[in-house]
Amino acid sequence: MLIVALDFSTDEEAYRFIAPLSPNDCILKVGLQLYVAAGPTFVKSLVAMGFKVFLDLKFHDIPNTVAGACKSAADLGVWMINVHAAGGPVMLEAASNSLIGYQDPPILIGVTVLTSMDQQQLNAINVNQSPEEQVKHLALSCANAGLAGVVCSAQESEMLRQEQGQEFILVTPGIRPADSDSADQQRIMTPQQAMSAGSNYIVVGRPITEAVEPLAVIRSINRAIA
Ligand code: C5P
Repeated sequence: MLIVALDFSTDEEAYRFIAPLSPNDCILKVGLQLYVAAGPTFVKSLVAMGFKVFLDLKFHDIPNTVAGACKSAADLGVWMINVHAAGGPVMLEAASNSLIGYQDPPILIGVTVLTSMDQQQLNAINVNQSPEEQVKHLALSCANAGLAGVVCSAQESEMLRQEQGQEFILVTPGIRPADSDSADQQRIMTPQQAMSAGSNYIVVGRPITEAVEPLAVIRSINRAIA
């Protein structure tokens, strides 16, 4: 399924983009930029419009604070939330436990290694594993803590599908339709390639948000991955 990244700087821009869309077209991702500008009221309004919302705030703090943030996010009625797997097992368990008791809790996933982190960047923070080894390790720690899945590069989907089985949710950004510009994403895959590699959800931002006819691009991606 398709998740569209609403990387806008104001709620006006986001509302203008959403106007022609219906909840059947795609899931909406609200990340740090838009959340800091538009806040919980905006997120609640998307939920009230019937959209599934992935609140991509990548929590990373002490366990108690992360647990509280997860509860606040769950209270907004969003469909999916995430935390940094590098926050450690105790933090991941606190996040997972914080959602016990919710009737319809958001899906909780972990961020493994950001795609902006290459070997050199990992070495700089004293992680001397390859990015792939680190992703595998952090995905296992997410699974052990009861998280439903991870955000990862589609290049890692096949490996993680094998490691973690069929139920583990893989959400993959860095996707570019075959005919679009790669912008600043380095290791890209097309929507079809990502789904064949085992991704459950693909995240696409600029190829849709900057298109002249966003709905046409959304429909063409939906056809490609149907
Ligand atoms: O515009 P584009 O399709 O590159 O947007 C991708 C979205 O996925 C952005 O919202 C970006 O923050 C997010 N993302 C990413 N790489 C990650 C994690 C998240 O590109 N590793």
